[in-house]
Amino acid sequence: MGFEIVRKHPIERRAKEIFQKYTDYTMISESMYVENLKLIWDFSSVKGCVIECGVWRGGMSAGIASLLPDREFFLFDSFEGLPEAKSIDGERAIAWQQDTESPGYYENCTAEVGFATKAMVSTGATHHIIKGWFKDTLHTITPAEEIAVLRLDADWYESTMECLSILFPKVKQGGLIIFDDYFTWDGCSRAVHDYLSKISSTSRIHKTPLGVAYIVKSD
Ligand SMILES: C[S@@+](CC[C@H](N)C(=O)[O-])C[C@H]1O[C@@H](n2cnc3c(N)ncnc32)[C@H](O)[C@@H]1O
Repeated sequence: MGFEIVRKHPIERRAKEIFQKYTDYTMISESMYVENLKLIWDFSSVKGCVIECGVWRGGMSAGIASLLPDREFFLFDSFEGLPEAKSIDGERAIAWQQDTESPGYYENCTAEVGFATKAMVSTGATHHIIKGWFKDTLHTITPAEEIAVLRLDADWYESTMECLSILFPKVKQGGLIIFDDYFTWDGCSRAVHDYLSKISSTSRIHKTPLGVAYIVKSD
């Protein structure tokens, strides 16, 4: 009779505790939240700043900041919710946005900026919360270091494309880019494919066991 040794990830327990702390500040499920933190931990030897685009109440950013408190954080969001879904985002996205009574609607992902501020202050990490539409805000920052972790959670094609066009060139070689919506929304996956194709990137799209999509910047 053989025994299978199942090794737990070194931060499994800590990641669950962090989720409990910020559960009211994120719409990401516990399993996916923990999966994101484990992935980011695995890339923690890559030094640089951390950026999340599409933060809602800031709970995911605060979780990352709890793990990497010595980094500089930039959080971008309109805090006015998602732009209107277009045909390139797929029929399911358009239907989701029209169904304003569904439990997953979250007022079209609108959030008071005070939630993100409170969550980030609790981590003690240096942070900047930049309110506004990506096309107006992403150009305005000058991080002291290159981007080590870029987490994109902006759902739609245009939003994801704006983030990639402006921020991908600023990601460090070997840096991590996470696509929260790659397996959820057609617009996100289309934007990722279109952008990588446009720059003739050879970066592979990877998937963690529970389905977090990411690439490691190689060119
Ligand atoms: C699904 S929510 C983010 C969830 C969040 N990461 C969490 O931990 O729960 C998507 C966010 O993207 C923002 N967003 C999408 N497109 C945007 C754009 N073009 N400019 C600014 N914010 C945008 C929305 O305001 C919304 O808060």
